[in-house]
Amino acid sequence: MKLKIAVLPGDGIGPEIVAQAVESVKAVCRKFGHEAHFEEALVGACAIDAVGSPYPDATHKLCMNSDAVLFGAIGSPKYDNNPNAKVRPEQGLLAMRKKLGLYANIRPVATFPSLLHKSPLRRDLVEGADFMCIRELTGGIYFGRPQGRSEDGETAYDTCVYSVGEIERIVRLAYNYALKRRRKLTVVDKANVLCTSRLWRQVAQNLEKEYPEVETEYMFVDNVAMQIIQWPKRFDVLVTENMFGDILTDEASVITGSLGMLPSASIGLHTSVFEPIHGSYPQAAGKNIANPLATILSAALMFEYAFDLKEEGLAIRRAVDAVLAEGTVTEDIAENGKAFSTSEVGKRVVEIILND
Ligand code: IPM
Ligand code: MG
Repeated sequence: MKLKIAVLPGDGIGPEIVAQAVESVKAVCRKFGHEAHFEEALVGACAIDAVGSPYPDATHKLCMNSDAVLFGAIGSPKYDNNPNAKVRPEQGLLAMRKKLGLYANIRPVATFPSLLHKSPLRRDLVEGADFMCIRELTGGIYFGRPQGRSEDGETAYDTCVYSVGEIERIVRLAYNYALKRRRKLTVVDKANVLCTSRLWRQVAQNLEKEYPEVETEYMFVDNVAMQIIQWPKRFDVLVTENMFGDILTDEASVITGSLGMLPSASIGLHTSVFEPIHGSYPQAAGKNIANPLATILSAALMFEYAFDLKEEGLAIRRAVDAVLAEGTVTEDIAENGKAFSTSEVGKRVVEIILND
């Protein structure tokens, strides 16, 4: 199969971790006889610095003309520390989501047996936890207008907007995942306070009738935030709006032991984007110490979701399990100070894929 992959390394540790993921993809292609073509483009702070826009047209064109996008991370302290910056790296990510119509962000949360001791939760609570957060990604308060400040600068406002159509497509997608898993769906909202949440609940209740095989429950987001920590094993598929999903997925990610392990897929109307859920970790940029595994696992998701190549995805997953088991890992998860570099971990993953 011919795979045309857009590579968007972005900022901070992005280039280092994406380089390792690309090596894994090449290894899988060699092993299974696929032909991958990679093309790089700018996004984020580096794109602002180079061409003045965080999501340049050339990058969008490349994404539209590719079969999948492999994305690193964006963000830079230069902009984080300057709330008045007119153009921000994050705007690039939001523009990419909107223009590619990436309305669903899928974040599987599964534990790795060899990392259980790294979880902030007790082993018995977290062992075997396996759920999936589905976050709406192109609506809600991230995109609602009006947004701004009053003329005197004394007030600021954001607007949360959802339409029936936007809610319906994401809840349907969540039901379809639930059908393939343990058939339980948690619809997360704040319907006791927010009007948009009441619309979510109404739309979900209407759809519920079409999926009698799935057990549907409705929970307020604050309660879910608590139960993810208290009883993570009770969840199968969660679906929620943009900002609740942003917060809950960061929370969910740490129960597995490291933020550096979780991949995500953003899918929608055009090309899908695969990226680690962590950020650009600027303090580690250029030091060859960041954990590349979340990005390598994002490449596994890319094979599975974008190309429907399950064996190829599995080959990457097996290699990741193997490096974890043998301890070829970066400092965030290393034991007794025995840490390997980003490129050493990536190289070992490649070796295992090729020799498997
Ligand atoms: C994420 C990030 C982004 C978001 C930021 C960088 C804009 O936190 O992908 O979860 O809030 O969506
Ligand atoms: Mg986030």
